[in-house]
Amino acid sequence: MSSSLAPRSAALPPHTAVTGLQWGDEGKGKIVDLLAADHDVIVRYNGGANAGHSVVIGDRRYALHLVPCGILTAGRLNLIGNGVVVDPPLLLEEIASLRAAGVTVDQNLRLSERAHVVLPWHKQADALMEAAMAAAAGEASKIGTTGRGIGPCYADKAIRSTAIRVVDLLDPAGLRLKLRRIAAVKNAMLAGLANLAGMPFETIDGEALAAEYAAHGAALAPHVADTAALLHEAMADGKRVLFEGGNGALLDVDHGSYPFVTSSSTTSLGIYPGAGLPGGRIGRLVGIVKAYSTRVGGGPLPTELDNAVGAHLRERGREFGTTTGRPRRCGWLDLVALKHSARLSGATELAVMLLDVLAGLEGLQICTHYRIGDRVIDRFPAAIEDLATAQPVLVKLPGFSAEISACRRWEDLPAAARAYVGVIENYVGVPVSTVSVGPERGQTLMRGR
Ligand code: IMP
Repeated sequence: MSSSLAPRSAALPPHTAVTGLQWGDEGKGKIVDLLAADHDVIVRYNGGANAGHSVVIGDRRYALHLVPCGILTAGRLNLIGNGVVVDPPLLLEEIASLRAAGVTVDQNLRLSERAHVVLPWHKQADALMEAAMAAAAGEASKIGTTGRGIGPCYADKAIRSTAIRVVDLLDPAGLRLKLRRIAAVKNAMLAGLANLAGMPFETIDGEALAAEYAAHGAALAPHVADTAALLHEAMADGKRVLFEGGNGALLDVDHGSYPFVTSSSTTSLGIYPGAGLPGGRIGRLVGIVKAYSTRVGGGPLPTELDNAVGAHLRERGREFGTTTGRPRRCGWLDLVALKHSARLSGATELAVMLLDVLAGLEGLQICTHYRIGDRVIDRFPAAIEDLATAQPVLVKLPGFSAEISACRRWEDLPAAARAYVGVIENYVGVPVSTVSVGPERGQTLMRGR
């Protein structure tokens, strides 16, 4: 299928990035799936099995966690870059379920030998750290992680001596030595955390783990590669590359609502270290924006709506986590946060997703400033205390009652829906190229086409 999103044309910049500009779950999977038709290589560069991308094709819904969405398009090369943290049994399970659904997964999926490996102690540490913090400092100090061991794995990447990479899985003898050594340290750490949390923990047997993970390594071996080298070779061959971000920009470890963030660089800034690419090579950066705000886990959401409008957004938008099934917190669109993340992602265009979910609301509101104490600001604050106490300054806009999920052209949208999109692009200063009015590939409207 050739999507109208990115017709193959010499005039278009050859490489594209897709990043979510909010707290994740913006609908990146759908746009990556559409764009994959016009790219040759699709690359994941950050995050782990915490991120979940849903793609709907016909009557099938695919939930992808580690495998790039390009796997659903025949003939594309899909790379899991060095910046991703990989949970081997989950990746093998994902590959098996894709194959069971009739999707080809062979040499079209390559996994970086430099990617770090999520191990069972990372998941234990994730849960125990949350419980220990709650015990020490109260429930509000929990990050509300997905429990997938992502933070502890990235922490080990930085610590280095306690980390395992994919390349290590391919050397059973070396893996055994490393895991025996690391298990001793990890068991001591887990015992300390468990003690603080008042919870049991499972002692890890390094020998048994080494045997298990060497087997995972053998199963993954056909996919393991120097993905950065493959990427550079593909680019040198004139192939078009699409970079697929995991999570959302406001969960970025440097620029998001820290500490209520994930542990990787989720803006497009993460592409360069996470895929092994020098800057300046990507001409088209598509920022994905949900027409309203959602967030799962802890941390402030300044425009949160704990009322019937919030419930409308959650029900109509099917706002329940792809990975954990948790109900998402919902609120009005936050332009202060969006402008911050669009800048940091270098967005050259925006795709507004789930606009259909707003249909039927009597009036719409959109946040343009934060009131913090006696200050009114339009910058995303660094201090979490500021974000937590920020009151949204909301502008009222007319709603639209008509269903828009059957609209196929920009001109078919009600005037109020078009005006809403216009407010977004004017405020952020980046054009909206695409509007999505439903999960299907066809429910995608292009501006000016
Ligand atoms: P972690 O990535 O599991 O450590 O979780 C850190 C924070 O990021 C938590 O608030 C999670 O709910 C959030 N988070 C992680 N992955 C996603 C995602 O794919 N969508 C939305 N939120 C996510």
